[in-house]
Amino acid sequence: MQVIILRSADEIGQYAADIILSGVTDGSISVLGVATGSSPLPVYRALESRWVPELAGLTAFALDEYVGLAPDHPESYHSVIDREVTRPLRLDPARVHVPDGSATDPEQACVDYERAIEEAGGVDLQILGIGSTGHIGFNEPTSSLSSRTRIKTLTPETRRDNARFFPSLDEVPLHCVTQGLGTIMDARRVLLVAQGAGKARAVAQAVEGPLSSMCPGSVLQLHPDATILLDEDAASELTLTDYYRFVFENRPAWQRP
Ligand code: F6R
Repeated sequence: MQVIILRSADEIGQYAADIILSGVTDGSISVLGVATGSSPLPVYRALESRWVPELAGLTAFALDEYVGLAPDHPESYHSVIDREVTRPLRLDPARVHVPDGSATDPEQACVDYERAIEEAGGVDLQILGIGSTGHIGFNEPTSSLSSRTRIKTLTPETRRDNARFFPSLDEVPLHCVTQGLGTIMDARRVLLVAQGAGKARAVAQAVEGPLSSMCPGSVLQLHPDATILLDEDAASELTLTDYYRFVFENRPAWQRP
């Protein structure tokens, strides 16, 4: 796990864009895993401002979707991905996939989503945020560390965190469909971005805490190629910050994007 502490959300966006653009142009990234929420927005903005034609050839898979919101609801992840990713990065909408939160047979829809990822050749790089509960995707505490795409119930804390996107807390859906932790772990590379003090505890537990389903993000400790991009506030509860900075300053040339 490579932990990189940067000065601002903008620097995080630019650094993540360096990694993604280098993979997209050298052909090692053709399937991108995309997250919603606030954390990855600086990444999408940086990619938009440094757009290269190869971005338009990407296939993308979103991590999750609310259950019970119509796809054209402005806060459905279908809409959010379309607004924040597909249009600004000029992706082909036919190659952008979001889990189906309105399926009449949700279990089959989850199986189909897993199959679609597999048929695309798997995710080359998965962008992740982390929730204050330690969730990645919407895998809330006690999610199986080997779970696949399935329906989950959001915690009250996550519903409160996400209420900022809705007119009221009551309108935040109770359920979601999310890639499982096993699905996320199959991505060849993962890039987690977190900003702000509200993420500090979850980040510290995920990076330095015990491997435990109580902090689902801690499963990334088992990933062979995980990069964690943090601002100072999100890194503030880590104990080994001096070491992470030392590692970054002395990183070998091959580790630079
Ligand atoms: C979004 C997702 C979630 C968010 C997390 C953080 O697709 O899967 O895990 O990344 O809830 O959300 P923000 O970035 O809004 O703080």
